[in-house]
Amino acid sequence: MKRAVIFDLDGVITDTARYHYLAWKRLAESQGVHFDEAFNEHLKGIDRMGSLDLILASSPRRYTQEEKLALATAKNEHYKVLIATMTPGDLLPGAVQALDDCRAAGLKIGLASVSRNAFTVLDRLGITDKFDYVVDAGMIAKGKPDPEIFLVAAQALGVPPADCFGVEDAVAGVASIKAAGMYAVGVGDPATLRQADVVIPSLAQFRLSDYVAA
Ligand code: G6P
Ligand code: MG
Repeated sequence: MKRAVIFDLDGVITDTARYHYLAWKRLAESQGVHFDEAFNEHLKGIDRMGSLDLILASSPRRYTQEEKLALATAKNEHYKVLIATMTPGDLLPGAVQALDDCRAAGLKIGLASVSRNAFTVLDRLGITDKFDYVVDAGMIAKGKPDPEIFLVAAQALGVPPADCFGVEDAVAGVASIKAAGMYAVGVGDPATLRQADVVIPSLAQFRLSDYVAA
C-alpha cells in the first residue's frame, strides 16, 4: 500500500506550464530561435539554465556565461509578471480534491518542483499548508530526470520510495519518478508520457484508490 504521494507543481496543480511556455517563447524569438509547443514539451520539468541551454543550442551564436545569466533573468522577470496575477482560481480542476483525498486517506503529501518560483506559486494559490514537505530547486544538486528530487521528498516524508507514488506532466518528471523506484501517474497525453504507469488527462480524473493499491 502506498503511504505517500509526491506531486509536481507546474502543469499538474496549476497551468504555470503555459506561462513558462509564453516566457520562453518570447525569449527564444528575441534570439532568433524558432519556438513551438513541440519543442516546449522537452523543456517541461527541466530547470531554468538547462532549458535555456536547450533553446540556445539551436542558435548559431555562442553565448558567454554572463549573457546566458542575463537571458535567464529576463525570462524569469517576464515569468514573474505572468504569475503575479495568479489566485486560487488558477488551481486546475480536480487539484484541491486530489490533495484532500490524499489527506483524508492518511497519506503524506510532498511537492517536488525544480522551479525556484514554487513557493511563490503555492502562496498565490493558497495551498502551501496542504503539503507536508516541499522540495524546490534550491535543495537539490540534479534536476529531473535525475531521481534526486523525488528521493529527497520521500526521505523527508519518512516513506520508502517503493511506498510512494509521483504525479507528473513532464516526460523528464515521469522519468525522474521511475528512476526513484516509484509508481508514476502521468497527467497529459499517453503518447507523450510513455514511461508512466498510468496516464490521466487531468487531476479531475485522479482516482486515489487505483494508485494506493498499485
Ligand atoms: C518547472 C517547469 C519548467 C521550468 C522549471 C524551472 O519544472 O516545468 O518549465 O523551467 O520549473 O522554473 P523556474 O521558475 O525556476 O525558472
Ligand atoms: Mg510539470
